[in-house]
Amino acid sequence: MEKLKIAGGYPLEGTIKVSGAKNSAVALIPATILADSPVTIEGLPDISDVRTLQDLLEEIGGTVSFEDGEMRVDPSTMVSMPLPSGKVKKLRASYYLMGAMLGRFKKAVIGLPGGCHLGPRPIDQHIKGFEALGAEVTNEQGAIYLRADELKGARIYLDVVSVGATINIMLAAVRAKGRTIIENAAKEPEIIDVATLLSNMGAKIKGAGTDVIRIDGVDELHGCRHTIIPDRIEAGTFMILAAAAGKGVLIDNVIPLHMESVIAKLREMGVPVEANDDQIFIGKADKLKSVDIKTLVYPGFPTDLQQPFTALLNRAEGSAVVTDTIYSARFKHIDELRRMNATIKVEGRSAIINGPVQLQGAKVKASDLRAGAALVIAGLMAEGITEVTGLEHIDRGYSDLVEKLEGLGATIWREKMTAEELEQLKS
Ligand code: EPU
Repeated sequence: MEKLKIAGGYPLEGTIKVSGAKNSAVALIPATILADSPVTIEGLPDISDVRTLQDLLEEIGGTVSFEDGEMRVDPSTMVSMPLPSGKVKKLRASYYLMGAMLGRFKKAVIGLPGGCHLGPRPIDQHIKGFEALGAEVTNEQGAIYLRADELKGARIYLDVVSVGATINIMLAAVRAKGRTIIENAAKEPEIIDVATLLSNMGAKIKGAGTDVIRIDGVDELHGCRHTIIPDRIEAGTFMILAAAAGKGVLIDNVIPLHMESVIAKLREMGVPVEANDDQIFIGKADKLKSVDIKTLVYPGFPTDLQQPFTALLNRAEGSAVVTDTIYSARFKHIDELRRMNATIKVEGRSAIINGPVQLQGAKVKASDLRAGAALVIAGLMAEGITEVTGLEHIDRGYSDLVEKLEGLGATIWREKMTAEELEQLKS
């Protein structure tokens, strides 16, 4: 097992390239199950969630190759193999196997998903959708059993705006008989990306990216080639770290439209931001003003950038309130930031950050993916050496992070953990 070491305080400069979107990738890969011939996806990030999904598709009989960001899936030999445990537990997005396998085979057994611990993360809206389409759904010993004689289109109103439920229902509904209407659908760019892949496979979907999606089911879906969208959360992470520790950083391969809430907040703080077609430049700001943040569904400020932004706010003058309206317990990074000298209080769903403070290097632990990103940013801002453990979380979502940051002049490296450190980690 490895840890990350960062020598902070060196200003970052240069160009950093964003990879394909993790939260699209983890839905696009299961979506290939629905085709009857090979599907190729270009531009996938090389992260452990993608590798785990590759293994899961192979487990159910698919032939999968993955090289240089290009995954080719031949789903023709796949079978409806139950996946009650094992690798499905490693990531949250394994729930997309439910919708895709239900759509293709009319049955599936999938263990309840893992992923980051951010407070309660129910999947009741996914299940409500599958049931509305005619599936019988039961939960037996930690696995969800789904079965339908036939899937029939339905009108489904989501009680909670959910990215996962919207995509999962789309995956099943493309193979249902008749029309499905999803109301109060999520509008995230990843939903449009999945709808684009499904449409290229022959599905009939209208309205993806709005809150009403109409799907007319079809009898078969064929192979195609698809290029994934850039990762707006990775792009946001780089924008935030450039504002925190940069002296002029160009972020390449980004869709500025996806970043409007983040651009607005950085400008409000006094960070110079310039956007063109597919790049964003973050200039150096000597003094930063505190801003309040409230996470919302897209196009509001993303919950996935709340933790990285909290790290940045330590540099800003004044008191900032960061409220997460999506996840009630996405604050495990705060204790770690406090170890680094931050002055932060948590009250309910809000963190109150008092700045500016000079963060100090310390030994800290990433409890989840974006907490990991927050600690890397804090490490780059800090005086001295920061050691981050829990890299398995960071590796789930950021590809080649060390190499990319080295490209900006960061002093960052991975080191094997000693036997003593591994022992401490267990206790
Ligand atoms: N919710 C329900 N019932 C449901 C589904 C969701 O109550 O059936 C609630 C959740 O508990 C949460 C809210 O609705 O409070 C939104 O959850 P959503 O379903 O939109 O989240 P998700 O689809 O499980 C995706 C991303 C998350 C990101 C959220 C919100 C993937 C694989 N994950 O999760 O990404 O935080 O949308 O934008 O797409 C990350 O990348 O670090 C990450 C956690």
